[in-house]
Amino acid sequence: MSVLRQLKPNVYLVAAIDWNRRLFDSLIPLPDGTSYNAYLIKGSEKTVLLDTVDPDLADALLSQLESIENVDFIVSHHAEQDHSGMIPHVLEKYPKAKVITSSKGKGMIVDHLCVPEEKVVIVEDGEELSLGDKTLEFIYTPWVHWPETMVSYLKEDKILFTCDFFGSHIATTDMYVTDEGQVYEAAKRYFAEIMMPFRNIIKKNMEKISEYELDMIAPSHGPIYNKPDFIINAYEDWISDTPKNIVVIPYISMHGSTEKMVQHLVTALSKRGVKVHIFDLAVTDIGKLAITLVDAATIVIGTPTVQVGPHPNVTYAVKLANLLRPKAKFVSVIASYGWGSKAIEQIAEMIPNLKVEIIEPVLVKGYPKENDFKELDKLADEISNKHKELNIVKNEG
Ligand code: FEO
Repeated sequence: MSVLRQLKPNVYLVAAIDWNRRLFDSLIPLPDGTSYNAYLIKGSEKTVLLDTVDPDLADALLSQLESIENVDFIVSHHAEQDHSGMIPHVLEKYPKAKVITSSKGKGMIVDHLCVPEEKVVIVEDGEELSLGDKTLEFIYTPWVHWPETMVSYLKEDKILFTCDFFGSHIATTDMYVTDEGQVYEAAKRYFAEIMMPFRNIIKKNMEKISEYELDMIAPSHGPIYNKPDFIINAYEDWISDTPKNIVVIPYISMHGSTEKMVQHLVTALSKRGVKVHIFDLAVTDIGKLAITLVDAATIVIGTPTVQVGPHPNVTYAVKLANLLRPKAKFVSVIASYGWGSKAIEQIAEMIPNLKVEIIEPVLVKGYPKENDFKELDKLADEISNKHKELNIVKNEG
C-alpha cells in the first residue's frame, strides 16, 4: 500500500504492513504478522513525521513520502529499529530536518543509527512543539518498551501517538480496529511479551495519560483505536495486581508419565472450579503461554527429568516466565524421574523474579500410581483453597 491514509485533516497514517514476518527480536512469535505505523502531520507552518518503519520495508515508507516536499521534524518516540531504523534515510531525503526525542533517546539514536549528534534535539517531559495550527505535547512514558520511550499528544485533534504502547502485532489493511476479539488477543500477547515485566511503571504511565481527553490512540503496531476505552480498559485489567482463578501448566512429557500427571491435575482442578490452561512445550506457541500468564494466579510446571534436571524446553519456559514477571501468586512443580532428580530444586532457583509462594510439589518415580494421584488431588485442593483465600474464585477467567 503506498497511499497516505487520513485520520483527521492533515494527519495521516504512513503504514508499512509486514504480512510475512513471523518472529520479532528473534524471540517473539508473530502468528499474524505485524505493521509499523508512522504518522505524518502537516501543520500550517511545520510538517512532522512521527517515527519511521522497519528498514526491511523501506520502500513502503519512501513511496508514501514521495509527494511530501518537506519534513521539518522526525519525532522518535522509541529508538528500537522497527520505528527508528529509517531515520537516516529520511534525513537523507530531508537534510534540513531535525530528530526530536527524549533525553534518554538521544544517545540511543546516535549509538544505534549513527545519526550525527547535532541532528538530534531533546524535548523534555511535557514540552510542546507548535506546528502552526496544531500542537504536539511530548509525554515521557518510560519502559514501553525501552527506558527512553515517550508518547505525543496532538492537542487540537485529541490523538495520542503511542508507538509500542497499546500496540498489537497484526498485519491488516484495517486502519481502525474492526475485529475487537482479534485485536484484544494480539494486544494482550503484545502486552505479555513486551510490557508485562514493567507492569508497575506502566501503571504510572496509564495514570499520566488518563489526564488527556482522547479521540484516538494511534500506536505504531496494529490498527488505530478510534474507541480508546477498549484498549485502556483492557490495560487496566492486565496491569491490576489481582490475578484470576486460573492455573497455567506449561509442561513436557517424554514417555507419558508427566502427561498422565498433568491430565489428572487438569481434571482435579476443573472439578474444583479452577480454570486451567495447559501448554505442551514440545509444540506450543510460546506467545499463547505468555498471554495466559497475564491473568493466572498459579503456575504449575510439569517436567520429566533429563540428566537430573528439568527438560531443556521446560528450562526455557521457566526462564521466560521469570523474565516476564507475571502477577501469579503461587507456583508448584509436578515432575517425574527414572532414577534420580534435582528438577524441582533447579526450577525453584530459576524464578527469583517471581514473588510467589511455592506449593508443595509432586515428584513421581516412573509412571504415576494410586498414591501419586492422591498427591495430585491434594495439590488441586491446596491450589483451590489458596485461590479462595485470594477471593478470586468468582472471577472465572
Ligand atoms: Fe516496536 Fe520496541 O519496538
